[in-house]
Order: sequence, then structure tokens, then C-alpha cells
Amino acid sequence: MVSSTVVYAAVPISVIVAIGLIRKWRSRSWTKYICNTCLRGKTFLITGANSGIGLETAKALVKRKARVIFACRDLNKAKNAIANIRKEQPTGGEMIPMLLDLSSFESIEKFVEIVKAGFHKIDVLINNAGVVVPLDQDAKTKDGFEIHLGVNHLGHYYLTNLLLDHLKRGAPSRVVVVSSTLHEKGKINFADLNLKQEIEDAKRRKGSRRHNPGYCNSKLMNCYFARALADKLSGTGVDVNTCCPGFCYTDLFRNSIRWYHYILMAPVFLLFMRSAQQGAQTVVYCASDYSIEGSSGKFYRDCEPYDSKYPFDKDEEIKLWNVSDELVKARKPIPL
Ligand SMILES: NC(=O)c1ccc[n+]([C@@H]2O[C@H](COP(=O)([O-])OP(=O)(O)OC[C@H]3O[C@@H](n4cnc5c(N)ncnc54)[C@H](OP(=O)(O)O)[C@@H]3O)[C@@H](O)[C@H]2O)c1
Repeated sequence: MVSSTVVYAAVPISVIVAIGLIRKWRSRSWTKYICNTCLRGKTFLITGANSGIGLETAKALVKRKARVIFACRDLNKAKNAIANIRKEQPTGGEMIPMLLDLSSFESIEKFVEIVKAGFHKIDVLINNAGVVVPLDQDAKTKDGFEIHLGVNHLGHYYLTNLLLDHLKRGAPSRVVVVSSTLHEKGKINFADLNLKQEIEDAKRRKGSRRHNPGYCNSKLMNCYFARALADKLSGTGVDVNTCCPGFCYTDLFRNSIRWYHYILMAPVFLLFMRSAQQGAQTVVYCASDYSIEGSSGKFYRDCEPYDSKYPFDKDEEIKLWNVSDELVKARKPIPL
């Protein structure tokens, strides 16, 4: 009797201990960025700083006395995040909540106007905000673009371009584009950037594919945008780099994950997913490490350069830049 109780208890305990040990072993390859250099006097602007990787990035920078602008689509969430950080770090840097909805060109313009009126320069812009929405939901931005194209790519494309003078004034300054290694699964179909066909297929199928093509394509666009911008800003003292935080447990998949996924996928989550804080390490490194100052156009993962498997093509890069420019100027999806 006693021995069977012991066996029943031993099995789950052994599983938990084994998972804990494997996770610890795996996390050895997840680089921890340690740097205490003071960032007083530097202004960092982080999109989507109220949650996940953006929030942890903000915390790490505030700890080093940086001034951080929380550019968020919900001002209350930004204020709550700031209040919580302030409780943890009463002597940290300054934090400023500001409204920015990347799904609206009008909101981006208003935001930039306020930034320009309030700040003389920006030292580091971190394009972090992002969404993942199942394609069958056919989500659109306020201006009518497919949601991943609009928020993850066009919103940041427009925001960054409007802030270029401020970034140049902050030189040596940086733009950090938070992409993902999922860009390697992306594909750019210029004849259907708004993914009409994919959305129709997804609605018919009524189920999501393993990798959301809208999201992967937008993460590829992030990479192309950063590469093109790095070239355009060469010699200005503004570095532009892309990074992947790794597979992290955040709110990013809130629209795709159902309660039963948590049970079915628990071992994967426990073994392979980083915390948001672990994911933020490479972002903070790209945003603040002095050893990479002057190096631009690279992709980082685990605080070191990463060789993408995507066959980047200069013509595709230039075409995407020009098309993005046209779409932002037209302010609505136009036939290309
Ligand atoms: N988590 C991962 O495994 C993973 C892996 C690779 C790359 N990434 C990238 O990491 C970045 C941060 O994602 P996360 O994992 O930290 O997810 P998250 O916790 O969901 O954070 C995303 C942030 O973006 C904001 N956002 C969404 N739509 C916006 C809009 N229209 N305007 C302004 N802000 C908006 C969200 O605001 P609300 O809170 O108001 O929704 C939130 O603050 C994303 O670019 C993502 O692609 C994540």
C-alpha cells in the first residue's frame, strides 16, 4: 500500500524534476545579456512597451537610468506598466506613456508630432510591437490593410521614416527592428500583398496553418526594411539592426491559442519557450551594447549575428521599399 503511494507520487515528481532539468539545460544556450553601463541622458522609444518583450526591454533600460517612451495603443496599459516598474525600481530612469496605434497612419502622425514637440532627439527606436491574428479572421488596420502587413510592417515603416531627422540628431543612434527567425518561412507576393487569396483559403479551410503566412511575411518585410534602411542611412551614424528574441511565452498568440492548447502543448511550452525577460536579452543588447556601435544591417539572435537562411534579394528589397512608400502615400490598399 505504502509502496504504491510512493510510486504514484514519485512519477509526477520525477516528470516535473526532469522537465525542470531539461529546461535548465536548454536555457544555457539562451544568452543572458549583463551590462550595467549607465544610460542616463539617452532616450529610447519602444513600440508596444506595455507587454511581453517590449515591457522587459523597457524594464532593463529603465534600470540603467534611460528615459523610455512607452509608445502603446492603450494609454492605460502603458500607465499601468509604468506604475508597476516604478514600484520595482523607484530610482530607475524616466518613463513616458504615449498613445501610438500602428494600425492607423493618422495616429502615427499625431504621435510623431508630439514626440517632435517634446524631444530634441531620439537615441534608439525599438520597433517591437507586433500582432499575430489567424487569417480566417480577416483582420484589417484602420486604413484597410491586412493586419500583419499594416501593423507589423507598414506602421513601423511609416513611423521610422517620420522619425529619421530625430534619429540623425541623436547620432550615434540606433533603430532596432524586432523580427523573428520565422521570416525564413515568409514570401512576398507583390501581386497580393493584402493576402486576399490566402484569407479566402483560410476561411474555406476554417483552420489555421502551422505558420501564419501573414505573420511570417510581415517578419520578412521587417528584415528587408531594416536592410534597406541600413543602406540608406550609411554614413549618418544611425545603425539599423534586426533581431529575433527566440520563441517566448508572451501574449503574442492570444488570438490563436485556445485553453486546450495550453494542456496539449504544455511540454513544448515548458521545454522550448523562453520567458519574455529571456527573450528581451538580444533586444536590449542590440539597443544598448557599445561593442556593436557602427555596425549596421545585421540580424542578431542570442546576442550574436545570425545567418538567415532566407535568400535575400536586392531587387525584392528595393521593390518592397518603393511599394511601401506608395501604399503609405496612398493611405489605402491600392492595386500595384
Ligand atoms: N513571442 C515570441 O515568441 C516572439 C518570437 C519572435 C519574435 N517576436 C516579436 O516580438 C515582438 C513583441 O512581441 P511579444 O511576444 O512581446 O508579444 P505581446 O506581448 O503581444 O506584445 C506585443 C505588443 O505590441 C502591441 N501592439 C499590437 N498592435 C499594436 C498597434 N496596432 N499599435 C501599437 N502597438 C500594438 C501590443 O499592445 P496591446 O498589449 O495593447 O495588445 C503589445 O504591447 C513582436 O514584434 C513579435 O513579432 C515574438
